[in-house]
Amino acid sequence: MTDTATQLARAGADYRRQGWCVPADPLPPDSLARLRTAIEGICAADRPESVYEEGGVVLRALHGCHRYDEVCAALVRTPALLDLAEELVGDQVYVYQFKVNIKSPRQGGRWPWHQDFAFWALEDGMPAPAAVTVAISLDEVHAGNGPLTVLSGSHRLGIIGSDGSEALGSWGTWTDHVSAKLAHSIPDERAEALAERFAAHRLLGQAGAISAFHPSIVHSSSDNTSDDRRTVVFITYNSVGNAPRHATRPEFLVDRDTRPLTRA
Ligand code: SIN
Ligand code: MN
Repeated sequence: MTDTATQLARAGADYRRQGWCVPADPLPPDSLARLRTAIEGICAADRPESVYEEGGVVLRALHGCHRYDEVCAALVRTPALLDLAEELVGDQVYVYQFKVNIKSPRQGGRWPWHQDFAFWALEDGMPAPAAVTVAISLDEVHAGNGPLTVLSGSHRLGIIGSDGSEALGSWGTWTDHVSAKLAHSIPDERAEALAERFAAHRLLGQAGAISAFHPSIVHSSSDNTSDDRRTVVFITYNSVGNAPRHATRPEFLVDRDTRPLTRA
């Protein structure tokens, strides 16, 4: 087995056991610098897919950048990322969703506890959690700037409803799926109870750090209470055999191009 194959196999074993993994290598510095420049340009462009924090002034998130920006389009086809996604999903993949969550210093807001697959299954008709989200930090992520917290092993639970049960609530507009007030979240008390069974782990690291997490893992992130920005790119790769059955949300949230990605 080569080193790369060993690393991938280890990432796969961690992912199946914990619902998340940190593959060994970060994004190379030149790729990171290119990506940061591209994202800063998109931030300045005030695109229609942008989402703002409450108050409408501070930018919170960008969506679907791989569809119009060539640096992001090349990023999703990077061999190391595709190798990882195919290993974790066990199939050829396409990009289901691409987003950039920006937590501005002192202003970037939290993401309540939730499971991504709850949205994708119920809203879009994704048949199975045969997808993976790869997170790439563009800034250092530390305890104070709103890191993502995952409950290790919780990906094996079914979908938990907004009242903490299995019953799911109703859906609003697409902004209800991406704003601080998520249409479908897990109550804090339920998440606290789950944290007694499933260890909470914060995904911290230097700029360029890469991690991956399962569609069903219970996760949240806190407010940015520091002077440091926390920008993370999230690429959700879906199995080509797992395309949603009734996607109606905008294409910048649910890409309809399900052709397998080839390496850049
Ligand atoms: C997410 O849950 O999809 C992202 C949360 C974050 O940006 O911290
Ligand atoms: Mn999420």
